[in-house]
Parts: sequence; structure tokens; C-alpha cells
Amino acid sequence: MEIIIFSSEKEVFEEASSRVVGWIQKKPNAVLGLATGKTMLGIYKNLIARHQKGRVDFSAARTVNLDEYLGMDPEDPLSFHSYMFQHFFRHVNLKRENILIPDPLPDDVEGECEAYEKAIRDRGGVDVQLLGIGRDGHIGFNEPSSSLQARTRVKTLTDETLKDNFGSRKGPRFAITMGIGTIMDAREIILVALGTEKAKAVSSMVEGPVSASCPASVLQLHPKVKVILDTRAAHLLERKDYYVWVWEHKKEAVKPHLLSRRKK
Ligand code: GLP
Repeated sequence: MEIIIFSSEKEVFEEASSRVVGWIQKKPNAVLGLATGKTMLGIYKNLIARHQKGRVDFSAARTVNLDEYLGMDPEDPLSFHSYMFQHFFRHVNLKRENILIPDPLPDDVEGECEAYEKAIRDRGGVDVQLLGIGRDGHIGFNEPSSSLQARTRVKTLTDETLKDNFGSRKGPRFAITMGIGTIMDAREIILVALGTEKAKAVSSMVEGPVSASCPASVLQLHPKVKVILDTRAAHLLERKDYYVWVWEHKKEAVKPHLLSRRKK
């Protein structure tokens, strides 16, 4: 895991969005795995601004979203369909047919989950997956106790998640979500967390044991994960100073001649 810590949210958004743009630059039809939630808003804003300045072209890019509330009308302002169109899709030049979000009202739920997996495979898999993290360590809607190898399926939301997402325990109880196995198939994963309320989940994810009690901890087993944090979300990390040093001196490991110059 590469742990990157910034003092401002702006730098966090800039770094996460640069990595997404980097994928599109090297592969214009890259498959972007997208997430929802407050944390993602700044990243989408940043990507939109780059697009408006002509610095990134989404016309060939393809997107797959992590999850959607089961039974919720996609037009409902609280649906992830609405979120994605309001905060990202309608501001950039993605083609409608290249956007994929789980259908919240399928006739056959199991069939929809299988079709979602197939659609991801047919696109050649996810190139870069953006993730937030829940206070309970969930990714997508894979709540604690989720199988660490599961594929897209229906999950039941915890009271804590309902409270975080709807301000009360009243809200849709179920969601269709990519499984942790599906998420782990992405070529690169970028997890972003902000604020002290995420610090405990971040510390379990990065420095705790790999355990279904903190679903995000499974990312320790992925070969290419960037965890981008603000200092508040990072404040419980025991090896914080080490991560900061590694990031600041990263160039030296890639360009060893810098190392010898420093010694002189
Ligand atoms: C939801 C989403 C997750 C997201 C989480 C955190 O539960 N399913 O993908 O990571 O919220 O959201 P926020 O960024 O609002 O804290």
C-alpha cells in the first residue's frame, strides 16, 4: 500500500484526480470504477474543472459504479444514479452508453448481479477503481462480515451506514454492490479518506489485520493501492512519519542517481 498524506483536502483531490487522468492519457478508453459519497465530490469537481479547461477528454472512457440502493427509483435525488449525473456525468463528455450503474429495480436481482459482473468482464475489467471508506471500514457497500472474495450481490446496510448516508436509520436497507472480489480485480485502486471520523477505519485498514471485520483491510493484499488521506484521517496511523518520509523521497527510489548526489 502506498500511503499519501496531505495537509489540505485540495491536495488530496488533486492527487486522486491526477491518477485518474493519468489512466485516460495512457488509455483513452480506460474503465474507471467510480464511487459516491461526500469524499468523492471534490475529486469529481477537480475532474470537471480539468475537462472544462480541455485537459481531459472522457469521450472514449467507460465507467462502472460500485453500488446502488436496491428498490430506489433512479430518479430519486438520493439515488446514486442521481448523484453521479448531478455531480459528474452531466458536466463531462462521457457517452451515455459507456456508463454503467447497477439497476436498482431489476426484475431478477440475482440475474442483474451476474449481468453486472459480466458487463465488467466484457469491458476488460476495471483499470482504476476509486474508493471511499465507511466509518465501519466498508468499501462499496461491503459491510463488516462481508466475504472477502464475494462478487456483485445484495448487501444489507448497517444502522451506522444508514445514519451516515441518510441522517437516520430510515432509508433503503439493501443495496446492490460490487463484491470485494470484484473490487480486488481492478488494476489499480485509489482509496480516499478525509476527516477525523474516518481515522479509526483508516488505521484498521492500513495497520490492522486483514479481516472481514474491516472489509477495507483486504486492500493490503492488492499489489497497487494508493491510500490518499488528509492529516485528520491519518492521525491514528502509528507509522505516519514513515509514510510521509517515503512519499517525500519517492523520486530517489525511482531515480537512484539522486541518492548518490544527496550523499555528497
Ligand atoms: C457510502 C458508499 C461508499 C462510500 C461511503 C463513504 O456508503 N457506498 O462507497 O465510500 O459511503 O461516504 P462519504 O464519503 O460520504 O463518507
